[in-house]
Amino acid sequence: MSADISITVIDREGTEHEFTVPTDMNLNLMEVCKGFELPVEGICGGMAMCASCQVYILTDEHFGERNDDEEAMLDEAYFVEENSRLGCQIPITPELNGLKVALAPEAP
Ligand code: FES
Repeated sequence: MSADISITVIDREGTEHEFTVPTDMNLNLMEVCKGFELPVEGICGGMAMCASCQVYILTDEHFGERNDDEEAMLDEAYFVEENSRLGCQIPITPELNGLKVALAPEAP
């Protein structure tokens, strides 16, 4: 049995969007943002090679762990903060219920 979870995304204008997201569709956070038509480009298609899906994790308990590719990309990206993650490297799992993130600014 799978459950839907609730995720909040704050866009670049500061508007909060709360989404109900299924956990059984093998989605990642970048795909969810795109699916709900937020301005997340996902240029590299989720390969951790563009950073256009960068988000700031506002609920510490959901930060998880950056993987090596993600860490390398964030090393070169703009506007990286302690709580930065790449949305495409965050699989949607039941543990993320209540996750809140903010979209990072677009790279210049
Ligand atoms: S979509 Fe390119 S790094 Fe996430």
